Amino acid sequence: MLAEIIAIASGKGGVGKSFFAANLAMSIAKKGVSVLLVDGDLGGANLHNFVGLKAPGKSLYNFIREKMPIEDVILKTPANVDFVGGAGDVLGMAHINNFEKLKILNYLKRSHYKYVILDLGAGTSYNMIDFFNFSEKKILVMTSEPTSIENSYGFLKVSIYRKVEKFLSGDNRFESVCKKLRSRSMNYQKVEDILSDIGQINKDVREKVESLLNGYKVGIVLNMLKFKKELNIFYGFENVSKKYLGITIEKIGFIPYDIGVSESLKRLLPYYNNLEDISLREFFDDVREHIFEKL
Ligand SMILES: Nc1ncnc2c1ncn2[C@@H]1O[C@H](COP(=O)(O)OP(=O)(O)O)[C@@H](O)[C@H]1O
Ligand SMILES: [Mg+2]
Repeated sequence: MLAEIIAIASGKGGVGKSFFAANLAMSIAKKGVSVLLVDGDLGGANLHNFVGLKAPGKSLYNFIREKMPIEDVILKTPANVDFVGGAGDVLGMAHINNFEKLKILNYLKRSHYKYVILDLGAGTSYNMIDFFNFSEKKILVMTSEPTSIENSYGFLKVSIYRKVEKFLSGDNRFESVCKKLRSRSMNYQKVEDILSDIGQINKDVREKVESLLNGYKVGIVLNMLKFKKELNIFYGFENVSKKYLGITIEKIGFIPYDIGVSESLKRLLPYYNNLEDISLREFFDDVREHIFEKL
């Protein structure tokens, strides 16, 4: 059995991806399901802090650059979750090549875990987009701040354009469409325009791309929620994604803002496992169940 990869992404940094990834892993482990947590933030790894480690010691760096077996870089953590750390940018991990990227993904898929949670770095670098697109379950973490919403949308847009571009690449007939898709100035306003260009060249290919998009599921999690009314963000985001990107967003759940988060980080205490008010765990458990059911 191959592991299912759950990617945790966001357009913007500081929205709580790593926090969410670590606590989702603890929630899955608590249920007795095997899970591996991986720090895929190649330029700014800090996931280890959320599972109670000061520094990861061995990391993806040793696996990629020193060819250490993957089993040797899997660490046990105070959070009771198996963990693979990332490396800071000084080590040059932010610039892995395509082969190294595939090597990481293939090894993770063939690990003996049921789920692999891959915490990604912020932004729309192709490394992050490819990790996201390759994963079976795709989750975007966002907050209700306008910048976070805007960047989440931008991230989704780049991901989908890249997915379509990769699908069409190699077929000369679509060279100009691909070129337009690759352009960061975003020549296509919406997916419908891409489909229409493709349809003019070939109707069958248009249909294939349409079904590719129909199968493209993304879950969103709203973090740091302070007021219930912020949940309306979900609906706006859902509508815009449908209208311009032609995809359906799954509303996976929300996590409240809690000042205890930074306190637990300072004390290196894994949040979920050390909650005094264990009713807060339910937010993660609800999200966990929705991920299993809806994505
Ligand atoms: N639900 C929350 N309530 C309060 N603080 C949070 C919450 N989620 C994250 N944080 C804080 O926000 C900061 C950024 O979170 P982090 O997970 O590192 O973001 P990202 O991985 O998206 O860059 C952390 O220092 C953490 O303390
Ligand atoms: Mg992070």
